[in-house]
Amino acid sequence: METSRISGFYKLLPEARLKAVADQTGLGKEELSWFEDGLRIEQANKMVENVIGTFQVPLGIATNFIIDGRDVLIPMATEEPSVIAAASNGARMVRESGGFSTSSTGPLMRAQIQTVGIADPFGARQEILIHKEELIKSANERDPMLVKFGGGVKDIEVYVVESRVGPMVVTHLIVDCRDAMGANAVNTMAEALAPRIEELTCGKVYLRIISNLADKRLVRAKAIFKSEDIGGEKVVNGIIQAAVLAEVDSYRAATHNKGIMNGVTAVVLATGNDTRAVEAGAHAYASVGGRYKSLTHYEKNRNGDLVGTIELPVAIGLVGGATRVHPVAKANVKILGVKSADELSRIIASVGLAQNFAALRALVSEGIQRGHMSLHSRNIALQAGASCDLVDIIAARMAAERRISVDRAIELMEELEKNKA
Ligand code: MEV
Repeated sequence: METSRISGFYKLLPEARLKAVADQTGLGKEELSWFEDGLRIEQANKMVENVIGTFQVPLGIATNFIIDGRDVLIPMATEEPSVIAAASNGARMVRESGGFSTSSTGPLMRAQIQTVGIADPFGARQEILIHKEELIKSANERDPMLVKFGGGVKDIEVYVVESRVGPMVVTHLIVDCRDAMGANAVNTMAEALAPRIEELTCGKVYLRIISNLADKRLVRAKAIFKSEDIGGEKVVNGIIQAAVLAEVDSYRAATHNKGIMNGVTAVVLATGNDTRAVEAGAHAYASVGGRYKSLTHYEKNRNGDLVGTIELPVAIGLVGGATRVHPVAKANVKILGVKSADELSRIIASVGLAQNFAALRALVSEGIQRGHMSLHSRNIALQAGASCDLVDIIAARMAAERRISVDRAIELMEELEKNKA
């Protein structure tokens, strides 16, 4: 790809945008047709039960991103106006200083095996650890393909928890899932080990399931927003004040993180990944330590520029699940140009940071309502029944007048129709 900075992209018609994306990313004729056809009913019928149709969500492209030195166009599926524009805007402001730099812990997931009814839980814990190598070998035999690609169980952790129904021994399989999200792989392994864990502990196994608190699959992104590019010292200080509230106050942290997830979830969905797994992981990680807090931090560096960082678990895959089945998800992966799940997770974290920065910048300057409402006004115009050629005109008039309502849209529609006649 030459560049993710396509000036005037937002002014193009959807077909012209798709062509511009195809020119940059090498999407072929067949892939282009997938955007038109979407998910066919026969395909949907193979994905879930009791299918009666499909439910469509707008898909847009966030521009301007440079991540680890690479320009990338980012597909985002979301019903919320202003999310894609805000992410693109946040990414534009960090282009001059090199974009986003990322790191990750690698694709390690946890499977939990819960064992109860044990007379000597601490002894049982040690018994499991004594047999660790045997258990790892046995679990890995369940997924030779994963092991062949360098994945598989890497470690076993065991702890005792006290509960109101007595002590429980919880065994964690730490599994390198490579390019899979990993739920199927780790659940299969946990189920396979359960009988041997019962033998070793003389207890009863109940749960054998993945933990969505993927704290060993962490992804981080960092960006330096130059003070002069984002509106000067006042904005830098304002963003830090706003971000600190999210560090110390859970009411604000929930909204702050919701803004991050606006970006994260949109990319997770566009690539056919499990949005609920990533959301559960992010919010659980935000609560580690006992109090729910923000997933990002902002500081001022020696030059007075704003340093933004994010860290969150991102359990996504490129193989298995809808990513390989849904045609639009497949085309989106091609647009992203990623070769591994790890690479995709780094893009997702960068979008989360860009999204959060853009929201905070708007909140500490003009507020989000002006930008948000002008986009929202298009939805209102559509709700009022405006035809495609009138939607933008009505939306612009309502935004300029700051009177955004279905009633006003109908009035304007009637006025415009009269003038047309
Ligand atoms: C709205 O969808 C998201 C925001 O509320 C996020 C935030 O307040 O940081 C704007």
